[in-house]
Amino acid sequence: MSANDQLIIFDTTLRDGEQSPGASMTKAEKLRIAKALEKLRVDVIEAGFAIASPGDFEAVKAIAETIKDSTVCSLSRALDKDIDRAAEAIRPAARGRIHTFIATSPIHMKYKLQMEPDAVIEQAVRAVKRARNHVDDVEFSCEDAGRSELDFLCRIIEAAIDAGAATINIPDTVGYAIPEQFGETIHQLLTRIPNADKAVFSVHCHNDLGLAVANSLAAVSRGARQVECTINGLGERAGNASLEEIVMAVRTRQDLFHIDTRIDARHIVPTSKLVSTITGFPVQPNKAIVGANAFAHESGIHQDGVLKHRETYEIMRAEDVGWHTNSLVLGKLSGRNAFRTRLQELGIQFETEGELNEAFARFKTMADLKHEIFDEDLQAIATDTKVKEGEARYQLVCMKVCSETGVVPKAEVTLLMEGKEHRVEAEGSGPVDATFKAIETLADSGCNLQLYSVNNITSGTDAQGEVTVRLERGGRIVNGLGADTDIIIASAKAYVNALNLISAGGVRQHPQVADV
Ligand code: KIV
Ligand code: ZN
Repeated sequence: MSANDQLIIFDTTLRDGEQSPGASMTKAEKLRIAKALEKLRVDVIEAGFAIASPGDFEAVKAIAETIKDSTVCSLSRALDKDIDRAAEAIRPAARGRIHTFIATSPIHMKYKLQMEPDAVIEQAVRAVKRARNHVDDVEFSCEDAGRSELDFLCRIIEAAIDAGAATINIPDTVGYAIPEQFGETIHQLLTRIPNADKAVFSVHCHNDLGLAVANSLAAVSRGARQVECTINGLGERAGNASLEEIVMAVRTRQDLFHIDTRIDARHIVPTSKLVSTITGFPVQPNKAIVGANAFAHESGIHQDGVLKHRETYEIMRAEDVGWHTNSLVLGKLSGRNAFRTRLQELGIQFETEGELNEAFARFKTMADLKHEIFDEDLQAIATDTKVKEGEARYQLVCMKVCSETGVVPKAEVTLLMEGKEHRVEAEGSGPVDATFKAIETLADSGCNLQLYSVNNITSGTDAQGEVTVRLERGGRIVNGLGADTDIIIASAKAYVNALNLISAGGVRQHPQVADV
């Protein structure tokens, strides 16, 4: 396949995906996702925004140290200190990229940057040159390109390529573009910029009008050769273009695109589940490719057609994107070594032997209850164990719930707070409501509950329930996670986890806020 038949997949789940309210991840979680992305054969992993916080820097560095088969990239504004920090974080990478950007739309230049267009070009050139002093692989993005003037885009892009950018990214930052028009913009840029042949043109579309995938595909039809996307379409506001949809669209419609990616699609569904478990963002059942109903046929007519000849109603095969690959990995009799080895294969690492012991104890308890333990169960055990890591302010010690027809549900909860156990009882409209009220009576957090959702990790009534609790306080949003075969206990764990996240605080710099 020549370079022109290859579509580069640039995954930004760990950076733009993490900018979704409540989707922040720990270093260990990011590493697990990075390993899954490498297995998926993503070309470029945008591992984070290194200057955002020491934690973000460490996560990018750890990913750079670990990943061998994908390029590891850090975002940086067009500022010397950002670029130098990004370079330091990706230094250990087998292949590293610095992605630097500056806003180019009239509205962003005037109000956000408060800079004249010529000064913006100057800063972009300086940034690309500085990044090139660190690495050969430099990407330059024109933030809000979707609302930028074509002539100005041509000028700044020509200058950035001259300065050494090998990839030029055209983001539709606010999801404003419409497919035909966006495709035409890409075509105009490719034909009007004299040195356009010296760079790969990339697109990065947001989904505010539900058009991120359509816009990205229109751009590919008109010559873009890199798409920036995220697993499950996670991302700022309405999200980014979804990786699985882009990959399967170009693969399924080779007749139109005449292009393919390196992606090993059999890992799409497991990666989607992992990202959903770690971030606590459930996947809607009717989501293309990775939704639970994506390959389920309900109506009699469709079922009849599929049974006679599957292509009557199916354009892709479920197994080609990783459905039905639940592997029964471990059981009741599996020992510690088998457990540790499987965790390693899944890219799960515990920082301390104590965490591993705790996870193993949970695995044993679960194996007694559930008999069959799948990879997804192990991922949930790992997330649930990690959730308790660090100096948690609140810990769930035990709980008892009473739920009976005709009786007001009651919950008795014991929390460990500041080294002391506190027990309280509360009533509610249901057992979950009673549990949350009991926890709040003790914690008195002042948080608003924004979302409560329960998902089955695997199928069957003995499956673990995975609960997400989203809390908000003072504009800060966190997603707490909990998993257990008992969904009331999973709910309590998720609530306590969210309380710990919100009280841990931590300020990080947002990349798209101008530095003052
Ligand atoms: O949406 C956007 O413009 C971005 C850039 C930083 C690439 O995420
Ligand atoms: Zn973005």
